[in-house]
Amino acid sequence: MNKIIIAVDGHSACGKSTMAKYLAKSIKYNYIDSGAMYRAVSLYCLQNAFFQGDNLDLLALREHIDAIRISFRFNEVTGRSDTCLNGENVEKQIRSMEVADKVSPVAAVGFVREAMVRQQQEMGKNKGIVMDGRDIGTVVFPDAELKIFVTARPEIRAQRRLDELIAKGEKASFEAVLENLKKRDFIDSTRKDGPLRKAADAVLLDNSDITIAAQNKWLMELFRQASAG
Ligand code: CDP
Repeated sequence: MNKIIIAVDGHSACGKSTMAKYLAKSIKYNYIDSGAMYRAVSLYCLQNAFFQGDNLDLLALREHIDAIRISFRFNEVTGRSDTCLNGENVEKQIRSMEVADKVSPVAAVGFVREAMVRQQQEMGKNKGIVMDGRDIGTVVFPDAELKIFVTARPEIRAQRRLDELIAKGEKASFEAVLENLKKRDFIDSTRKDGPLRKAADAVLLDNSDITIAAQNKWLMELFRQASAG
């Protein structure tokens, strides 16, 4: 069976990464969370005081962009890959609401996207990869053999993300999470470079009302069809 590229795009917190991780594990492919890369760049901006309130110092970020290296390291305990920023494990920090609040403006910057897209294309050059994000099927891998676009109703997505944050011991309210998701969806969909949109040849999945088991079954069938062709 030929190795393929699987691109999973969609709205914030609709379970893309759970889905992409399950698929990658089942078919023994590498999984890359491209959102984690933009989150890590945002953390770098926060750590280096590039933000004054909501204002981002673009000149400073441009000077540093080539020095920001994102990598993934397998965690034996969780069985998942952790995100590293210049070699340091930042998996926990990048999932905070503070980073969620800054990530979409950072990800809208053209030169940030260019740098991340380059790193992502490099990671996929041998295929056998599942990558999730916003522009994977449209910009990063426009020739991906399987493209999936995932969405769900905003309130359902907010509840899923809130449950995730609470499980990790973070404090957040349903309203704050919902507002953050809506704000990010808006910025992600309306930006000039690599906006969030469904590729014409992507399969659409609204998973508001379907079980994870049903979703996984559907996914494996899609994979079988795509890798056979
Ligand atoms: O997990 P969640 O859906 O909240 O978001 P994520 O996948 O971690 O992505 C965080 C943010 O990074 C998104 O809201 C986008 O602003 C940005 N992003 C992007 O611009 N392009 C990608 N390929 C992936 C993420």
